[in-house]
Amino acid sequence: MPPRRSHRAYFKPLQKRLLTWYHRNKRDLPWRKTKDPYRILVSEIMLQQTQVVTVIPYYRRFIRTFPTVFSLARAPLQKVLKLWEGLGYYSRARNLHRAAQEIRNRWKNKVPSTIEGLSSLPGIGRYTAGAVASIAFDVKTPIVDGNVRRILCRIFAIRKDPRRAVVQERLWRLAAEILPEHSVGDFNQALMELGATVCLPQTPFCPSCPVCEFCQAHRMGVQDRIPVRVVKRPIPHHEMLVALVQNGRGLLIGPRPEGGLLAGLWSFPEMDWMEAMTPRRIEKAIEKQLGLKTNLRWPLEPVAHTFSHKRITYHPYLFDCVSTQNRLPGLWRWIPPDKIADYPLPNATRKIFDQVTTDRLPLAAEQPAVYRRTRK
Ligand code: ADE
Repeated sequence: MPPRRSHRAYFKPLQKRLLTWYHRNKRDLPWRKTKDPYRILVSEIMLQQTQVVTVIPYYRRFIRTFPTVFSLARAPLQKVLKLWEGLGYYSRARNLHRAAQEIRNRWKNKVPSTIEGLSSLPGIGRYTAGAVASIAFDVKTPIVDGNVRRILCRIFAIRKDPRRAVVQERLWRLAAEILPEHSVGDFNQALMELGATVCLPQTPFCPSCPVCEFCQAHRMGVQDRIPVRVVKRPIPHHEMLVALVQNGRGLLIGPRPEGGLLAGLWSFPEMDWMEAMTPRRIEKAIEKQLGLKTNLRWPLEPVAHTFSHKRITYHPYLFDCVSTQNRLPGLWRWIPPDKIADYPLPNATRKIFDQVTTDRLPLAAEQPAVYRRTRK
């Protein structure tokens, strides 16, 4: 451990090395070309749980479409979700949209500059508030994300499980103690950058590390074993039946219920999958849920998707609707296939839908042309 009293002086060389390294080596990322707090907020929300390379095109498109807080606040949520399609963790998009409305209504269109103000917005936790405050406003405040956690565990040779609350608190304290007086935003980003490019989880490139002489794990040769890896519990697996019901007007889709998985996005009807589902049983299940009589036409390829907390295998089937009634339960709608891509779709729905839009699909003889569309 470094000596208690003279922390400031003790960390100065580390701060200097890291900042110099960052200025020479930082990746050219679009949100690093701006000081606009709104753009930095958008980037930080997108970067939660998502890799930089994935975020870049989404960020560019989002900022092109919504260049200001005001433009985002007044947009329909469906348009925001459509731009987020494929990025996952859609509650981030819903919260960002609500946050923009609060910034417009309560903060006169200005992103708040304090940790308290930022933390009062929906979807902004301790990490994101610290990142935006330090990067956009140079507030002297720490951040601890997965990368920073790993670096701190190694520099201070912390061998306890970093997910434990007491260890987390210690990491936040250390992240505050090592902050420089100035260039805090750059320093925090330098930590993230080091974690993303040098101080990697499995094989840290210690010879390229600007601060390896300050690293206790490196000194002891235990950098590969820190942070300690805790065996993750396997996530549950579910199986769902997905019904692509078609009639002359299109395919049946509906918005997913508020508060549930993928809320606000649109998908085909889903029901629990049971072993030994015969065509008749499947048709009966659809009739029970939607009040529609159908004929099962073809099974499609199963699609698997892993969420943060569960894995689902979807078993899609194509059906012809043989009911003539016009009324549909709930918010279900018949949508022409060439309009379906206008709706925000979950990844798995998109993959299933793509199966019926290729020429390979053995579709209803009377309808094939409708389904041959170009991908939007
Ligand atoms: N991850 C989270 N925030 C980031 C940033 N500003 N730059 C690069 N990666 C990040």
